[in-house]
Amino acid sequence: MRRIGVFTSGGDAPGMNAAIRAVVRKGIYEGCEVWGIRRGYAGLIEGDLVPLELGSVADTIHRGGTILLTARSQEFLAEEGRKEAFASLHRAGIEGLIGLGGEGTYKGLLAFHRETGFPVIGVPATIDNDIGGTDYSIGFDTAVNNVIDAINKVRDTATSHERTFVVEVMGRNTGYIALTAGLAGGAESILVPEFPVDLDAVCQRLLRGIRRGKRHSIIVVAEGVGHAPSIAQEIKQRTGLETKAIILGHIQRGGTPTVFDRVLASVMGARAVELLLAGEKKAAVGLVGGEIMHCDLEEALATVKKIDEAVYKLAEILAI
Ligand code: F6P
Repeated sequence: MRRIGVFTSGGDAPGMNAAIRAVVRKGIYEGCEVWGIRRGYAGLIEGDLVPLELGSVADTIHRGGTILLTARSQEFLAEEGRKEAFASLHRAGIEGLIGLGGEGTYKGLLAFHRETGFPVIGVPATIDNDIGGTDYSIGFDTAVNNVIDAINKVRDTATSHERTFVVEVMGRNTGYIALTAGLAGGAESILVPEFPVDLDAVCQRLLRGIRRGKRHSIIVVAEGVGHAPSIAQEIKQRTGLETKAIILGHIQRGGTPTVFDRVLASVMGARAVELLLAGEKKAAVGLVGGEIMHCDLEEALATVKKIDEAVYKLAEILAI
């Protein structure tokens, strides 16, 4: 294999640049040319391809976002779009593709491989951490640290005013960000889509805490459960407590990647190149039990990841 293509797709995730850098530099080290595809699948269809040199990825390891830009392409969902994408790759002489992203990216890679036989490797990069075949995806650690930073700040003002705050975090329909940040941030309650939400119990817990002398309360809610303003309103009505809502939104996806994400991205990016060169046709890179592994893309997509119920229960016990 002489020429490899790399792209980022779906929501950006901090650490994507570190992974692109690893693909480029490892690829060149192995004697390949590496081309960047801009704007994900949309750029693949349009043929928006750029050759990447060693210097193209200089000064990027610490940057959030993605230097290749990203998009959510509707056209690639159709076979016609994928045919155009194949033609673009063929014209550019690209022989293998590395895609960084989440579930949508993996699904696109698999459909593309099935129709064209083109070798594809998926690298998990989503703050949601909801993609199978890996314990951690690139960007999750930075995102939860962003949430913690916000919770720490909210906690200061919450204590001063003796208020309750409902903090809404991202995660699509999963609670990885909420549970991890809620546990690490000492939240009084964590609401996730994976487990039933009992607002009465949340209110009782709040009132118990106040009777015990708590000066503030933080409730972390995953976006898959509902929106912070309406939950805050409901809590206020039921308890009479002054309750404010914060939606952290896209701030969670930004900023310089943590050490964990930079290392994960570097190792995963390099492994993706090795897999292509070893002749893998449709693989997904992952960190499983502390080791960098890979599995079939289909297996990664078929695996339904679940947040750890024991950790969820522990968070409840510790926040009492
Ligand atoms: O998948 C990453 C993510 O940030 C989700 O947590 C969130 O639901 C979604 O993307 C937001 O998408 P957009 O950036 O298109 O608004």
